[in-house]
Amino acid sequence: MAATEKVSPTAGSTGIPGIIGDSPAMQEVYRITRQVASSSATVLLAGETGTGKELIARALHEFSPRRSGPFVRVNCGALSESLLESELFGHVRGAFTSANENRTGRFEAAHGGTIFLDEINSVSYTLQVKLLRVLQEQEFERVGDSKTIRVDCRVLAATNRDLMDEIDAGNFRDDLYYRLNVVPIYLPPLRDRPSDIPQLVDFFLKRYAASNKRPAPAIMENAVEALQSYVWPGNVRELQNYIERAIVLATGNVITIDLLPRHVQGLAPVRLRRNGVRSSESLCEELVSASMLEAGESSSNLYDRVVNLVEKELFSQVLKSCQGVQTKAASRLGINRNTLHKKIDDYGLEAADS
Ligand SMILES: Nc1ncnc2c1ncn2[C@@H]1O[C@H](COP(=O)(O)OP(=O)(O)OP(=O)(O)O)[C@@H](O)[C@H]1O
Ligand SMILES: [Mg+2]
Repeated sequence: MAATEKVSPTAGSTGIPGIIGDSPAMQEVYRITRQVASSSATVLLAGETGTGKELIARALHEFSPRRSGPFVRVNCGALSESLLESELFGHVRGAFTSANENRTGRFEAAHGGTIFLDEINSVSYTLQVKLLRVLQEQEFERVGDSKTIRVDCRVLAATNRDLMDEIDAGNFRDDLYYRLNVVPIYLPPLRDRPSDIPQLVDFFLKRYAASNKRPAPAIMENAVEALQSYVWPGNVRELQNYIERAIVLATGNVITIDLLPRHVQGLAPVRLRRNGVRSSESLCEELVSASMLEAGESSSNLYDRVVNLVEKELFSQVLKSCQGVQTKAASRLGINRNTLHKKIDDYGLEAADS
């Protein structure tokens, strides 16, 4: 379902219209969504990119008594701190150089409805204090103004990072976290619910066939199997894109495995992601499948291959963050310089002469 489409609260009693998948993990998501939609409780949606956080946020609004009010989404990751502050709270004329007129903020625009703070993990520490106050008191001032404004809006927030990790790293306030996390909803990664894949494939085949004005094609069983074995770093969004692409590329009315990207077919290594919430278990799965692809299924030195893969990436990233200075990188890694020097040679990494 496109982010702009509305969900009808009438269809189905346990599922959510337009949200596909009936794995136990997704059923739990639907159950909590329906249960908390009618309240005004703050909900924190967590999950990797492309898992459907925005879909659930919209469903929470559509199932709530506020459905006739506005649904206002703010992408907190897309704006600098000062722009975000004025976007959220508004400003008065003269508050800063380019403030030529008064401006209403998004909290005011969401009055009587829902505000969805997307990528909440990107909000700066200073702005987090101001957000905490709105969450607690439902009041704030426009930038440059002393008049207090009160709003009635329900707050939903989403993060694709583990906020506990962000708290540990000193990037996120724990008081705000607890205030946001009144009802947590976790969207499971697609790789953990392969049983949802056939339904999702069917749904996207129909959708993209319709938008390309073609009859919905069939799909070969080995293509579905390949889709079910893939690790899905981009989750449902990635699956949606591959199905759309396959429909565009298909010449007949059957989707064959060769219409899927090579890394989904198992013919090229899977690219590892560098951010987002990921369990050590799923990271391990990705690493194992990447090294098997490089070496062939029968290779017996899996341990060495996976460790080398991780080690090379670690050394290369630390060297980069230390501008290639080996003494600095060695001390950050907690190893001696000779060991680092040897690894740089072994892996052919780039480093400054030192
Ligand atoms: N269960 C699902 N059923 C149908 N479509 C889905 C499902 N989950 C996700 N999608 C589709 O995948 C795309 C990504 O979903 P969405 O934008 O909700 O993800 P997100 O978790 O907000 O991702 P990000 O963290 O990158 O913002 C959307 O086009 C959405 O319609
Ligand atoms: Mg999103």
